[in-house]
Amino acid sequence: VSGGTAAPVPDPTTASAPVERVATRRHYLMCRPEHFAVTYAINPWMHPALGVDRDRAIAQWEALRAAYLSLGHQVSLIDPIEGLPDMVFAANGALVIGGRVFGSRFTHEQRSPEGPAYAAWFRANGFAEVLESAHTSEGEGDFLTLDDVVLAGTGFRTEVVAHREAEEFLGRRILSLHLVDPRFYHLDTALFPLDGGNVAYYPGAFAPDSVRELERMFPDAILADEADAVVLGLNAVSDGRNVVVNMEATGLIRDLEMRGYAPVPVDLSELRKSGGGPKCCTLEIRL
Ligand code: ARG
Repeated sequence: VSGGTAAPVPDPTTASAPVERVATRRHYLMCRPEHFAVTYAINPWMHPALGVDRDRAIAQWEALRAAYLSLGHQVSLIDPIEGLPDMVFAANGALVIGGRVFGSRFTHEQRSPEGPAYAAWFRANGFAEVLESAHTSEGEGDFLTLDDVVLAGTGFRTEVVAHREAEEFLGRRILSLHLVDPRFYHLDTALFPLDGGNVAYYPGAFAPDSVRELERMFPDAILADEADAVVLGLNAVSDGRNVVVNMEATGLIRDLEMRGYAPVPVDLSELRKSGGGPKCCTLEIRL
């Protein structure tokens, strides 16, 4: 699904050189929110007393899945398990690079059965190299993969020692970033890769030394403001060209268009009541 049909768009960051963004086909793992609920609160978004509309959540999730399929991506499904209301957030289940599966160990006991459940799915689907982390580690919630580096969040969930463990197991350089705002408790709520070499992020979610590191590594990054961050606009999924993003993140959507990306707005308002967006529902399988 390379977007060869669209006209080149001038990139304001490289002084009028036309940029053609190129999509690559992805393979995602998702979990239908059949048992989705907010019955406990493990992040500031979750308010059990408010309740959720599960049918609406399922319809929104189906639309997300349909968006991936219409972009030409492959979507595999893991069976939801009763009593695990957050299992819809597949991104947290593992980090998969080069067919090697770095399995999760969840921070909170309410989610702890999800780690083995996701690891079992990978074993049952032919992945021989599966390591269940010895340390607290929440998969692609806190590990985001670029071409030359994996960015790893810490502060609320995944421990730095798990970053080192993943580095050794996956053979990739891993850069630790410190999250400081509890609303952005996973790295994927504050930053997403636009392609293999650039990112969009909300600086306010990071400690000053991490912001400096991001500025140094990604001088062309898209910087999102708080208004786009608080609708979980940074919890987006890019294939290098098409960016599946919460529809409420209007400033970010405009910036993406200006940079030559093709935003695909989605409505995941019910999932957001648990602190999740499109990326949380999506675990990329990299062979
Ligand atoms: N309620 C879930 C939790 O707090 C939401 C997880 C969202 N997932 C993500 N990749 N950010 O763990």
